[in-house]
Amino acid sequence: MERAIALAWNGWGRVGRNPLVGALVLRDGAVVGEGFHAEFGGPHGEALALVAAGERARGADLVVTLEPCAHHGKTPPCTDAILASGIRRVVFGAHDVDPAARGGADLLRQAGVVVEGGLMEPAVRAQNAMFFHRHAEPARPFVALKLAASVDGRIADKDGNSRWVTGVPAREYVHWLRAGFDAVAVGGGTAKADDPGLTVRGPVRPVKPPLRVVLDRHAELPPASQLVQTAREVPTLALVGRGAPAPAVAALREAGVEVAVAEAQREILSELSRRGVASVLVEGGGVVAGRLLKEGVVDRLYLMVAPLWLGEEGVAAFAGVPAARIEDAPRWRTAERRALGDDTLLVLDRR
Ligand SMILES: NC(=O)c1ccc[n+]([C@@H]2O[C@H](COP(=O)([O-])OP(=O)(O)OC[C@H]3O[C@@H](n4cnc5c(N)ncnc54)[C@H](OP(=O)(O)O)[C@@H]3O)[C@@H](O)[C@H]2O)c1
Ligand SMILES: [Zn+2]
Repeated sequence: MERAIALAWNGWGRVGRNPLVGALVLRDGAVVGEGFHAEFGGPHGEALALVAAGERARGADLVVTLEPCAHHGKTPPCTDAILASGIRRVVFGAHDVDPAARGGADLLRQAGVVVEGGLMEPAVRAQNAMFFHRHAEPARPFVALKLAASVDGRIADKDGNSRWVTGVPAREYVHWLRAGFDAVAVGGGTAKADDPGLTVRGPVRPVKPPLRVVLDRHAELPPASQLVQTAREVPTLALVGRGAPAPAVAALREAGVEVAVAEAQREILSELSRRGVASVLVEGGGVVAGRLLKEGVVDRLYLMVAPLWLGEEGVAAFAGVPAARIEDAPRWRTAERRALGDDTLLVLDRR
């Protein structure tokens, strides 16, 4: 299953709203076929693993991260392919929650295949957190926060400089990460201080470049900023307050930036949903991070910790988070820990 999960990651940024799925066929303990869902609309992972295994699938085991689908979507049901292949046993990770696709396990059992579900289910669910979120809470996007912080929880030094807290491998990871989100957002403070490009310049070319979003209450995004300058090439949305000066809003629109009014955190998330954004990666800064966290709408945190101290006057990673007692503070679930050069990535999920 670990191997199947690793295979599934190959579809990151390419499968759209579908889940990441990896699969392999095992015969007498040896892998005789592997596959993963590589493209939205393309064949499913288990179907490809079966093709790769060919005749060797007869009497073999299929290991797949997600319960095989039982419906005619863009491709024929995987349950058909499994039955035709002569697979004897299916071991899957997470149960499917898609009402249209689920039911594959029962169907296979009725046809006489041995089916075991739930192997490494938490890891598979974490890999597909956006997919599971969409089915559990379709009204608002999956919200992930990404911050690069010092050991003492600062995301910039006392002058507001954040280049660079983390090293090259951490920054490369961010380009990979962005490719899997529908939108990438920053606060107005960050847009001004860092002048970020927020484009995907990594190994994965996303099917659709993520929408760039700036929380820009007073419409202060500078006309000379990278975001405004490239707004005609990469979709860019400024979410402004009701009192934003009309000439500034007009200037942004003139430059190709889409502008919408959304101020409260929930209002921002509904506006994104309305535009078809099902997942957003919020890349700071500290004010935005603190507000989203306080509001309880952060589903996942990607925290990159760098081995340095920036001191009390540095910019705090989470501004204005109310005090909590140790016994009352909610503990998040650690989905992943990884070394990125000298830095450490922590992926934490709200329970
Ligand atoms: N290391 C990292 O990972 C990292 C990442 C990002 C930024 N940074 C650093 O962090 C610093 C900037 O962070 P920051 O905390 O000062 O600012 P910030 O969080 O980027 O932005 C705060 C600004 O966004 C506006 N804003 C927040 N929520 C809004 C909403 N719901 N609607 C409209 N506007 C909203 C605020 O306006 P109002 O106050 O009017 O509400 C405020 O002006 C910079 O020094 C930057 O280099 C570091
Ligand atoms: Zn399928």
